[in-house]
Amino acid sequence: MSKLIKVTAKSPVNIALVKYWGKRDSKLILPCNSSISVCLDNTETITTIEFTENIDKHQIRINNGELKNDEKDLEKFIDKILELTQNKNLHARITSTTTVPVAAGLASSAAGFSALALAARSALGLALNEKDLSILARQGSGSACRSIPDGFVEWYKGNNPDGSDSYAGSIVNAEYWPEFRIISTIISTSKKPISSRTGMSQTVETCPFYKGWLETVEDDLESMRKGIKGKDIILVGETAEANALKMHATMITTKPSIIYWLPATIEIINKVKSIRESGIPVYFTIDAGPNVKVICEEKNVKLIERELKKIPDVMETITSKPSIGARLTNEHLR
Ligand code: PMV
Repeated sequence: MSKLIKVTAKSPVNIALVKYWGKRDSKLILPCNSSISVCLDNTETITTIEFTENIDKHQIRINNGELKNDEKDLEKFIDKILELTQNKNLHARITSTTTVPVAAGLASSAAGFSALALAARSALGLALNEKDLSILARQGSGSACRSIPDGFVEWYKGNNPDGSDSYAGSIVNAEYWPEFRIISTIISTSKKPISSRTGMSQTVETCPFYKGWLETVEDDLESMRKGIKGKDIILVGETAEANALKMHATMITTKPSIIYWLPATIEIINKVKSIRESGIPVYFTIDAGPNVKVICEEKNVKLIERELKKIPDVMETITSKPSIGARLTNEHLR
């Protein structure tokens, strides 16, 4: 193994435009359907890692000790990565900060696990290319595999039982569609009551409409690829909005029912629809949480932000454009 060094990686959040919902293998984190997302600037995790034989357990600190549960998940993931090395005596010192409200449906785990996968790979000198790295990040949190490549990204569900063909690759890079914007509205920063992991398995097991989700997702993927390549905000927006509503319909109809929305979620949906009726192409998507992400073009951002901020429960809006994926930096965290 090459000399051990301190390494820092930065990785963006990604927001799915065609969602991943449901696993066919929960150990390897293999999805039932492919998904498409966009990496966002302004929202990232920075992770510094250093391996050493001088400590006897991992030392992990996220946002200055704020996130104890996430620390446990990262510990397990680091053990998985260390299985790729021959050295049984190594432990990691990890410091991580995130600029995203954690576990509020803003895919903070995607940024966290992808940053950690890249930093650990480089610190351990593992020979993994982008595809391998995406496969590794996937095993931390499924959507993390989509934060490794650049720009608009597809996670191919794959068919192999060992997950070797379930990884993400770029459809187009971050510069391809510079006018594309996502406005993330924050109405709640509290941890969601039901994790994506639990929500997904409950859906696969009990939702009577899950088959319908799987039957229609291929068409959504096809339209989304076409919309992104053609920079067609209407096709991308309409497809993303319908796909998100379908996913939430499966959640709502599980036993027991999972409803992530708050009253302000619906207020934002209605606001987006009313702006759209005035002739502006604007759409929404929602992950496993109450916060709504608004899809639009740069030229309409100011007006849309102004309208969204009129809703009393909107605490904050974060506007992002497409970003590059995970990358290394020399700015180490202390
Ligand atoms: O990767 P996870 O476990 O955070 O699941 C992500 C699930 C959704 O955000 C709801 C959809 C998606 O494709 O990102």
